[in-house]
Amino acid sequence: MKIAILGTGKMGAAMAKGMARSGEAGWNLVLTNTTGVLPESLADLALRCMKSNADAVSGADIIILAVLPQQYQAVIAEIRDAAQAGACLISIAPGYTLEKLTSLTGGRLQVIRAMPNTPALIGEGMIAVCRGANVKDETFDLAQRVLGVLGHTEAVSESQLNAVIGVSGSAPAYVYMFVDALADAGVLGGLHHSQAVRMAAQMLYGSAALLRESGKSPAELREMVCSPAGTTIEAVASLEESGFRGAVIKAARAAMEKASKMA
Ligand SMILES: NC(=O)c1ccc[n+]([C@@H]2O[C@H](COP(=O)([O-])OP(=O)(O)OC[C@H]3O[C@@H](n4cnc5c(N)ncnc54)[C@H](OP(=O)(O)O)[C@@H]3O)[C@@H](O)[C@H]2O)c1
Repeated sequence: MKIAILGTGKMGAAMAKGMARSGEAGWNLVLTNTTGVLPESLADLALRCMKSNADAVSGADIIILAVLPQQYQAVIAEIRDAAQAGACLISIAPGYTLEKLTSLTGGRLQVIRAMPNTPALIGEGMIAVCRGANVKDETFDLAQRVLGVLGHTEAVSESQLNAVIGVSGSAPAYVYMFVDALADAGVLGGLHHSQAVRMAAQMLYGSAALLRESGKSPAELREMVCSPAGTTIEAVASLEESGFRGAVIKAARAAMEKASKMA
């Protein structure tokens, strides 16, 4: 199976790395960027990189558009006729709807939208996937298997995709702000900054794993930390007074609204 990844920036490189290391012997990868030179982050992998998007997509079963949204129109125009009819095009940009992508490709391709996030760089991404009307079941399964090298995939409807951007696509940024603030608090309490970041990161990692593996709700897990008249409930009450939850909801909603405007 030939997979063409157009763009070798953060997302394209993460995908290429995940796929090259997946152990899937039958995946023939070809990459493109503006120079035709493999980026340094992929230098240790024996991958083909070229400048011509049209050459790269020729005969490809799966084409992944990992260029910036502002480059989409030009790149799609380049590959539109070079891609074989019925090939699967996976878009990872916000703002390009299935309808728009189908129209830009002249309806020749099976179009899928995916929304990854940066933890995909280490195979721990959350990748929401939605399919165009003409996508066959086996194509959708294959696309999810290919994207699965980046982390956990979940099928959603297109109408849910902007919510995904607010909740998992953009959310690593809010989480890092939270960790950064916790580290500052740690310094205030006498920890070294690097020590505080390390502790906060492990706390976050463990908390996420517990949430995923315990089957308990976030509220139940929060209750487990709060002993009566203890320290944690003081912090929780303070967060509530500061409007913490409202601020998070407002931030995620801003990301969703921006994604919706981009469409
Ligand atoms: N970063 C995220 O957290 C994130 C999350 C979800 C979705 N996305 C989406 O993922 C896509 C890629 O984002 P990114 O962060 O990986 O961007 P990026 O790091 O800026 O990479 C863009 C890549 O596109 C290449 N490129 C530009 N013009 C090209 C052309 N005409 N033909 C072939 N390649 C071309 C660039 O080549 P050079 O290397 O030669 O400049 C570069 O490798 C975007 O649509 C973005 O919205 C990103």
